[in-house]
Amino acid sequence: MKRLFTILVVAMTVLGLSAQTKKTVVTYFSATGTTEAVAKQLAKGNKADLYAIEPAEKYTAADLDWHDKKSRSSVEMNDKNARPALKSKKSLAKYDVIYIGYPIWWGVAPRIINTFIEQAELDGKTVIPFATSGGSGIEKSVSEFRTAYPNVKWQKGMLKN
Ligand SMILES: Cc1cc2nc3c(=O)[nH]c(=O)nc-3n(C[C@H](O)[C@H](O)[C@H](O)COP(=O)(O)O)c2cc1C
Repeated sequence: MKRLFTILVVAMTVLGLSAQTKKTVVTYFSATGTTEAVAKQLAKGNKADLYAIEPAEKYTAADLDWHDKKSRSSVEMNDKNARPALKSKKSLAKYDVIYIGYPIWWGVAPRIINTFIEQAELDGKTVIPFATSGGSGIEKSVSEFRTAYPNVKWQKGMLKN
């Protein structure tokens, strides 16, 4: 009887502890450092892990030239199905709360964010999008995510300008 009681107490303690400690991660893609700075602040404030979403091929200044219709970013943003490759895969299955940060490109999220979401195993997870921009809002990008990935618990996005 005493042994059973001990087992019960240990089990409840373990369950209680795991319920308390929601694991949070702040993930972000940043081409020129602005979103990265915000991500670092968020991770510090939330005592969360930090993870940089890195493209297999870094974006050069020429790649980011939105005046050039043939630049890499223009070509990718012109194609809804573009999925630029990641440097490495990352499952977020062990996290309960996931922040995803990005710069607004052409009014929405860069396509590499789609690549990331599609390999991250986010179904059923609470995801909080945040973004930086030159003035555009975050809503359009979040509404695209809700449509494309309906099994994710999308929270209201935060623009950090
Ligand atoms: C290819 C490209 C497209 C962009 N499109 C937009 C846009 O549609 N609206 C906007 O407000 N800012 C736009 N920007 C500006 C970025 O969103 C802004 O500079 C952002 O803070 C950069 O973040 P980063 O330094 O983390 O890459 C664009 C920037 C690039 C490079």
